[in-house]
Amino acid sequence: MELDQNPEQMLRLIFEYTAKIANEKSLDRLLQLMADMGKEMIDADRCTLWILDKQRAEIWTRVAHGVSELRIPSHTGLVGYSIRSGDAVIVDDAYQDSRFNQEIDLSTGYRTKAILVIPMRNNDGEVIGAYQAINKRTAEQKFSHRDLEYLTLAASYAGKSLEAALLHMEIEETQKEIIFTMGEIGESRSKETGNHVKRVAEYSKLLARNYGMSEEEAELLRIASPMHDIGKIAIPDSILGKNGPLTDEEFHQMKKHTEIGYQLLKNSTRKIMQAAAVVAHQHHEKWNGQGYPQGLRGEDIHIYARITAIADVFDALATERVYKKAWELDRILALFRQERGEHFDPRLVDVFFASIEEILAIKEKYEDM
Ligand code: C2E
Ligand code: SIN
Ligand code: SIN
Ligand code: FE
Ligand code: FE
Repeated sequence: MELDQNPEQMLRLIFEYTAKIANEKSLDRLLQLMADMGKEMIDADRCTLWILDKQRAEIWTRVAHGVSELRIPSHTGLVGYSIRSGDAVIVDDAYQDSRFNQEIDLSTGYRTKAILVIPMRNNDGEVIGAYQAINKRTAEQKFSHRDLEYLTLAASYAGKSLEAALLHMEIEETQKEIIFTMGEIGESRSKETGNHVKRVAEYSKLLARNYGMSEEEAELLRIASPMHDIGKIAIPDSILGKNGPLTDEEFHQMKKHTEIGYQLLKNSTRKIMQAAAVVAHQHHEKWNGQGYPQGLRGEDIHIYARITAIADVFDALATERVYKKAWELDRILALFRQERGEHFDPRLVDVFFASIEEILAIKEKYEDM
């Protein structure tokens, strides 16, 4: 059994962690640092940061380095109680307390005994989450009021950084929603359903990942690819909605949606927008140089656009359009085999075939109603 930290150790801990926390921009790493700091300061076996999502009336936490997220209704358990009441809670044996929610223990097999929860507030005094410590590692196995004071101290040191990181996340989520909505506008003008945008996003991410891109870059493409047809907002309804083949002149007009989309997006310096601009510009280029608008060839076509091209054409063929019926899977696969190294990057076509089960799962998940 360990003893409580002495004052010198405590000071060292605080110096060590606050320096790291102040410089941490990533929400996941920040939550991890705060959990580690709390755990060490008060000798808890576990420490968790819970964040309140007011809109959804849920509290959430990232488990194991942000890989998975745990979400529960915001009124649940001792954490929910602390967040609702704004009061700290010290409990010596959780199973003797009716407010305790045993479900998480049941799913993890962990046995919670002592719990300490303190609410975390922002600058305006609003509760934004809670600091939860579980199981004191000293002989008496109970959290004391001194622990409560230390954890409160830890919370106050990290509160500002946490609020900044949450705000940053909020802005990023908002950006993603705006971008997605823009993509939907482009598609709805051409009478395609909203799910087309979702499917192309998911296919693109899947192909990017299986091609060997990092999770981060695959996610970037997931966000950017749905905007590929944003330029269609400038194409007349009479062409977009035509239920039959286009004349040469109409197709000439239609092809301009690539250049228009690029012009709309290219001036932003944001990474997502730059990726979206390249995809809008180049998603109708072909590996053999016969595409439009620039007639780029092979690897001169940006990898994001080569990936989105496969996602877009697969979805255009697999679903009904105003001008065509959905194709049978065999016919689609035959086309991809035939266009390997012609329309499409051969290596990506191989990735596409290797990923076909996952592709079909996405198709099913986001089926048009
Ligand atoms: P979209 O409907 O999103 O189709 C994207 C791409 O999927 C097409 O690019 C094409 O490469 C492929 N694709 C779609 N349907 C077929 C098909 O029946 N056969 C084959 N082999 N490939 C197909 P593309 O051709 O550059 O067309 C760009 C956009 O122009 C289409 O986007 C659609 O909005 C419009 N479009 C193309 N052809 C027609 C048409 O005959 N009638 C109408 N109303 N619109 C058309
Ligand atoms: C939230 O909606 O507040 C949390 C977003 C997330 O899942 O990262
Ligand atoms: C573009 O021409 O759309 C951008 C060029 C590129 O990044 O490949
Ligand atoms: Fe297009
Ligand atoms: Fe499309």
